[in-house]
Amino acid sequence: MITKTDQLRKGWRQYPSNTVARWDDFVNWEKRQQGEGAFFVDVLRRNNVKTVLDIACGTGYDSIRLVKEGFTVTSSDGSAEMLAQARANARKERISLNLIQSDWRNLIDTFKSEQFDAIICLGNSFTHLFSEKDRQSVMNQIYYLLKKGGVLIIDQRNYDSILKYGYSSKHKYVYCGNTIDVSVVHKDEQLITFRYTKQGNGYFELNLYPIKVGEMTKLIKQAGYEQVTTYGDFEKEFNPRSTDFIQHVAVK
Ligand SMILES: C[S@@+](CC[C@H](N)C(=O)[O-])C[C@H]1O[C@@H](n2cnc3c(N)ncnc32)[C@H](O)[C@@H]1O
Repeated sequence: MITKTDQLRKGWRQYPSNTVARWDDFVNWEKRQQGEGAFFVDVLRRNNVKTVLDIACGTGYDSIRLVKEGFTVTSSDGSAEMLAQARANARKERISLNLIQSDWRNLIDTFKSEQFDAIICLGNSFTHLFSEKDRQSVMNQIYYLLKKGGVLIIDQRNYDSILKYGYSSKHKYVYCGNTIDVSVVHKDEQLITFRYTKQGNGYFELNLYPIKVGEMTKLIKQAGYEQVTTYGDFEKEFNPRSTDFIQHVAVK
């Protein structure tokens, strides 16, 4: 039996097949693409990126887009269910993904001495790490797997604002679906529980660590990056209260 403690430690265990089956309704690929525009592709091209490791590929949204844009993508995730859905989504798009199951804590064991031009961790994924030791270790492993001059792109929900003012969403960025209602059923500085209710079809919940923007920036800088830029809803200038998602771009 998978206990809650186990799910918190191994975040990918929070995605059983019935949650994965609803994930793409929650994302809404078309609206997500409209919201982010060419932001990620532009950052990657600006930094002469050819090879990308997507360590939280989920159902494949970013990996598929980047393959279509001509990047060489390796996609990993801890969840076998997510990887199966990514494979099915790629097949529908008539492309193939290089899919690998890996827990972030074992990234170096998985990829050995392979190095990438960019590593992405998107869709508010890093928030699955509850221990400071794990967060530091994963951040250091990502750094190790990047070439010199390589780019890390990592995003997060604007937890500073959620903790202070409550949860709200413009339904414009990252998770854009309007067939799933999102609410926060628990929040404190250490744990936030989101409930995702699909009209007439039950709900699933995710338990996450509400990492603050300053904490994430500190972790990135401690790993050794030369340059870190933080965006809010894809803009350099942003309102810290009304922004939904934060994007960090770091260059090694
Ligand atoms: C919030 S989902 C985001 C998925 C995708 N990036 C998106 O934007 O739709 C978080 C993803 O991180 C994966 N994940 C969580 N904890 C993980 C871990 N410790 N190691 C590897 N993958 C993990 C989950 O399986 C899930 O696919």
